[in-house]
Amino acid sequence: MIPIKFHHIVVQRRGSPDVLSWKPVEVRTPGAGEVRIRVEAAGVSGYDLMIRGHWFLGFTKTPYTPGEDLVGIVDAIGPDVTSFSIGQRVAGWTFGHGGGYSEAIVRPVETLVPVPDGLDPVTAAAIVTNYLTASLTLGKTAKAQRGESVLVHGAAGGLGSALLQLSSLAGLNVYGTGSAKSTKFISENGAIPVNYRTENFVRRISALTDDGLDIVFDVIGGPRQLWRSSRCLKRGGRLVMLGMTSINKNGAAVIPLSLITAGLVALFPNGIRVPMSPSMLSYPAENLDWYRNTLSDLLEKTATGCLKPAIAAEVPIAQASEAHAMLGEGGLVGKVVLTNPT
Ligand SMILES: NC(=O)c1ccc[n+]([C@@H]2O[C@H](COP(=O)([O-])OP(=O)(O)OC[C@H]3O[C@@H](n4cnc5c(N)ncnc54)[C@H](OP(=O)(O)O)[C@@H]3O)[C@@H](O)[C@H]2O)c1
Repeated sequence: MIPIKFHHIVVQRRGSPDVLSWKPVEVRTPGAGEVRIRVEAAGVSGYDLMIRGHWFLGFTKTPYTPGEDLVGIVDAIGPDVTSFSIGQRVAGWTFGHGGGYSEAIVRPVETLVPVPDGLDPVTAAAIVTNYLTASLTLGKTAKAQRGESVLVHGAAGGLGSALLQLSSLAGLNVYGTGSAKSTKFISENGAIPVNYRTENFVRRISALTDDGLDIVFDVIGGPRQLWRSSRCLKRGGRLVMLGMTSINKNGAAVIPLSLITAGLVALFPNGIRVPMSPSMLSYPAENLDWYRNTLSDLLEKTATGCLKPAIAAEVPIAQASEAHAMLGEGGLVGKVVLTNPT
């Protein structure tokens, strides 16, 4: 196999955004069941910031290349590959292994789906991780039913905006928290905005609903936040813990404290459930048909205008540190996407 020189972003040690550096790398030609992709767009997420800045048991070891989702053009195929051809645009999730912040990457074909004609790579990249997670969470983890009421925290963020849009499309009554800049976006997506910086969301939800909500999707985490989220629920409601944005402010201790709080909420005799699975940690890998069918369907819905992911910013991959700084600063609406100039 003849390797070719490309570049990718490397995190040598944990720290502030400037630990991201642009390095040359040899990318091998694809083997059996693999294709090589020239990356056009790769998503940046709160998860990337969390593992870059903090250490916790199970976090990716340094050095590593971040990037959970990518879209690009197949430029070499393995000897037995018939499902994709050179020049085809594909999208895929890297299943928690990172690597998206690259000029080129080799991926197994079963992790990829074709991108529909006419759908641009940046918009397609904004779909992959967040809309897959939101689909899994709504349909299988929370088992949300039409007409139920839900609160989406961080509703203008990457994952939150996907949950917001898919919840509205599924016929749920949606409330969303965010800062002042996200109010318009949340309203335009059919939800009632709650400014978490200026309002007490527990009191606001209590005033807006008769007996509380059916579901809270919490991407913020932390004991106080989760406890308050549970107080927004009616008897039998579901608290779905999906993320730990608060790590960026309060450190990795938020993880065990959140798990303890979730356990206490589930034990409390108020009928509230805290479903933890199925989760993105295992479900897509164990259900590859679900993964490919759901991702293809989401991309098709985006190509036909039924889904409109919000793009907060496009930044060249080589300047990924700027993208991390921007996301860490907050106040954005939608997903930050890295691009490779062609
Ligand atoms: N379970 C999964 O498989 C999965 C998949 C994807 C992401 N995640 C996790 O989800 C979390 C969010 O990721 P992301 O990519 O969506 O990040 P993001 O784009 O940075 O979004 C975070 C959002 O949270 C808002 N926010 C911050 N503090 C808040 C608070 N106290 N109350 C309400 N909103 C608040 C921010 O708004 P302002 O900036 O305006 O304050 C921002 O819009 C991360 O922890 C990530 O690891 C999990």
